Amino acid sequence: MTDLVQFTKDNGIAVITINNPPVNALSPGVPEGISEALDQIAQDDTVKAVVLIGGGRTFVAGADIKEFGRMASGKPRGAGLLPLLLKIEDSSKPVIVAIHGTAFGGGLELAMAGHYRVALSSAQVGQPEVKLGLIPGAAGTQRLPRLAGVARAVEMCTSGNPVKAEEALKFGIVDRLIEDDLLAGAVAFAREVAGKCAPKTRERDEKLGNVADNVQIFSSARETAAKKQCGLIAPVAAISAVEAATKMPFEEGCKVEQKLFIDCLFSQQSKSLIHVFFSEREVNKIPDIPKETPIIPVKSAAVVGAGTMGGGIAMVLANAGLPVLLKEADQAALDRGLATIQLNYANSVKRGRFPQQVAEERLKRITPTLTYDDFSSVDLVIEAVFEGLALKKEIFKELDRVCKPGAILASNTSTLSIDEIASSTSRPDFVIGTHFFSPANVMRLLEIVRGKASSKEVIATCMQLSKSLGKVGVLVGNCRGFVGNRMFGPYRREAQFLVEEGAGIEDVDQALSGFGMAMGPLATGDLAGLDVGWRIRKEYRHLEVPGIRQPFAEDRLCELGRYGQKTGAGWYKYDDQRRATPDPLVTELVRKWVDEAGIVQRQISAGEITDRCLYALINEGARILEEGYALRASDIDIIYLNGYGFPAHRGGPMWYADTVGLKQVCDRVFEFHRQHGEIWRPAPLLKRLADEGKRFADFGKEEGAAA
Ligand code: NAI
Repeated sequence: MTDLVQFTKDNGIAVITINNPPVNALSPGVPEGISEALDQIAQDDTVKAVVLIGGGRTFVAGADIKEFGRMASGKPRGAGLLPLLLKIEDSSKPVIVAIHGTAFGGGLELAMAGHYRVALSSAQVGQPEVKLGLIPGAAGTQRLPRLAGVARAVEMCTSGNPVKAEEALKFGIVDRLIEDDLLAGAVAFAREVAGKCAPKTRERDEKLGNVADNVQIFSSARETAAKKQCGLIAPVAAISAVEAATKMPFEEGCKVEQKLFIDCLFSQQSKSLIHVFFSEREVNKIPDIPKETPIIPVKSAAVVGAGTMGGGIAMVLANAGLPVLLKEADQAALDRGLATIQLNYANSVKRGRFPQQVAEERLKRITPTLTYDDFSSVDLVIEAVFEGLALKKEIFKELDRVCKPGAILASNTSTLSIDEIASSTSRPDFVIGTHFFSPANVMRLLEIVRGKASSKEVIATCMQLSKSLGKVGVLVGNCRGFVGNRMFGPYRREAQFLVEEGAGIEDVDQALSGFGMAMGPLATGDLAGLDVGWRIRKEYRHLEVPGIRQPFAEDRLCELGRYGQKTGAGWYKYDDQRRATPDPLVTELVRKWVDEAGIVQRQISAGEITDRCLYALINEGARILEEGYALRASDIDIIYLNGYGFPAHRGGPMWYADTVGLKQVCDRVFEFHRQHGEIWRPAPLLKRLADEGKRFADFGKEEGAAA
């Protein structure tokens, strides 16, 4: 037997334990080990029943995700799960699966092949494959409806969401909940059923429903998937696989599931989602900052500025259990900031996110103040005042004076240089950027901006802090706009050019939302406030190079007071519920302005719209990567997935470019360069990788690369 699986006997009950830490993934060796144990048990007349349990902190959290990649490249290791599951089900001695932690994916498929399942009440079960663009591939779609009913199985396989043990008991997935000692409870259960005729899940059909109900279930599931998971292959495949369970014998249903599983496995969507899974883990690896770098304890914090961002950041810190001082410049601003925080918490309670008592506890952790008096005790300060260098420098000078040595001084600036800000302190090594996204209490992304002096301890602490705040922290370099906004500039610039050149406002947004973006670029501008970019452009106008084309329609809209949703009008007009409708006036105004500028409008295809917006984004991403402001192409992907509504099934902008092929992307960028001039100059890295037939994903892994 492999050392991943152990087998002991306890007075007539065999206990098979899976030991493949940390999560007992079903790596090669695990199924084989269980199979061997079952062979021995079959020969042993003293054994009357079998308990299958996980060692360590969980039962089986799922398949080994690296195996999916190997299967997709035609090099699977091991025979897979299916033969083992039949062997378990055909065992003449009842097999009781004991679940703690999680039984996800292959873990649940394994559990469902057992004759009975018992679980701790803290356990969870689920078929999350859809989140990796897959469906269950070891008869999960065939056994789950037999245990939980058709509607429940469809729901679980299409959403991928976990189900708590108590619900699993109610649904029929689990037969008994055990308190405290799982093994003892499972062995006691095994003694109860030993020697009795055990039900085989695959032979049960009492929950497979009737034709009329099932037709209804599948058609409404398909409708929901078309609406909420538009364009995704896996949820639709999962529905078809469960449908097969209701229409054909188990063996035939398994064949249908296998075929659909393979279709998904070879799809680009699945490859992209698996890329996202690994990239989210990779993001924590910083080459020059070892895992053992000391972490500065952060037990209390302060936020300067209680506006849009400061208020949200104070909530994030308080939600994570930290006491927070919230400082404002005057009482009116402080009152406004606090009122917004209170309203946000009240709304969360109303929506059932957490009880009133939790809201009160969180609110109590925030202490409003107009002075720096108590700042001397805090471990971390995050500054979120107006975007102005002089003001920020003045505040950091003050923070340097009042804060204790060792306190981390962070700025939420979105455009200013962290090094400049740090230069106003005597401790630039303790200064860093923590760039939250709006609304700070909702958006998962946190760009952690490394100044040239930021210490390794401060960086490691902020990376770890991001996790305890429920954020995805990505380390970026200190350039204007950092990574996310620096790339977003060219993306939105193209959207505006396209409208000026004749594309419809909604056509631009629809092309990008059709691609999968959570929102089109013009509607996003309206949401964030068109005036933000307008003010920045005014401030940096002196840096514009003469002769280089700039979009102008958006600035004109701002001059008319059309700032977007907050003023009820921007690219679109908005009702009091902030619902958008197209505004023919804007189309008319743009036409007049471009006429005056001598631009001749033309018909523009959806393909050109997506290529121009996305390739502008990618071209800038390539520059950022080459200049070393992002550590890896996949870090840029994580930024776009978590902060900018980029569709996960496309893997992020850099991964998407790799899937299109850099040669094709580069050729198109050259074409746009010829048509539209300097702003489209191809990034040297894009050209080099395209010429060499490489991918962005290879960058940094090449010999001698700087990253
Ligand atoms: P805001 O205008 O909503 O809030 C700024 C607050 O700072 C105001 O309430 C103001 O009274 C306060 N303030 C000014 N001087 C102060 C002082 N000496 N002491 C204490 N408070 C003072 O601005 P917002 O949008 O919250 O932006 C704050 C920072 O976050 C800026 O650096 C901005 O670039 C950045 N940021 C903004 C994002 C956004 O979407 N709004 C997104 C990411 C970063």
